[in-house]
Amino acid sequence: MLAFIWAEDSDHGIGYQGQLPWHMPADMKFFKDRTTGNTIVAGRKTFESFKHPLHNRKNIVLTSQDEKNFPEGVVVFHSIREVLEYYTRQPSQNMFIIGGVQLFKDFLPYVTDLYRTTIDHKFAVDTYMPEIDYSHFMLSDFVEGKVDEKNPYPYHFEHFMRVEPASD
Ligand SMILES: NC(=O)c1ccc[n+]([C@@H]2O[C@H](COP(=O)([O-])OP(=O)(O)OC[C@H]3O[C@@H](n4cnc5c(N)ncnc54)[C@H](OP(=O)(O)O)[C@@H]3O)[C@@H](O)[C@H]2O)c1
Repeated sequence: MLAFIWAEDSDHGIGYQGQLPWHMPADMKFFKDRTTGNTIVAGRKTFESFKHPLHNRKNIVLTSQDEKNFPEGVVVFHSIREVLEYYTRQPSQNMFIIGGVQLFKDFLPYVTDLYRTTIDHKFAVDTYMPEIDYSHFMLSDFVEGKVDEKNPYPYHFEHFMRVEPASD
């Protein structure tokens, strides 16, 4: 499986000043549960929004920079082609594209699955999810999130699966 996993607000906003626009621990747990034990692929800015490589996952970063600028153990690639070749060599591996914008645009033809969290609120944002044609996907799972003091906005989780083969 080659998947996108992301959270967006009701205007498709995903980021603000280099960070997530919200604090929603339930979504962070969802992200952790899905990605742990698997591979994540991040753009350099998204990677830098974490304080360190994400634990118990293979961390791949896309950048034009030299790999010596990144912590040991992080796999550094310089093109989406390299990432796709890596994925093709390990087809049993679940690989999650975790953003940002250019990665979501470039990998869209290749992904088999989409894990979208929608937070039903408008936040201050400066980064938006690219448009996705959902007619190529079918909704296979929908879960309403539980609102509580720590997760104060209505939210839901959706899993979409591609209904036609992804590009080679
Ligand atoms: N809500 C969510 O689920 C979610 C998910 C992800 C990110 N975000 C938010 O989005 C923002 C960051 O996203 P962003 O779109 O601004 O940046 P980004 O995609 O994380 O990083 C952009 C950088 O990635 C590298 N890159 C991208 N495509 C490449 C390619 N094809 N080949 C080589 N390098 C490539 C370049 O790094 P170099 O400049 O080093 O060459 C580029 O400057 C933050 O606010 C973050 O919190 C939110």
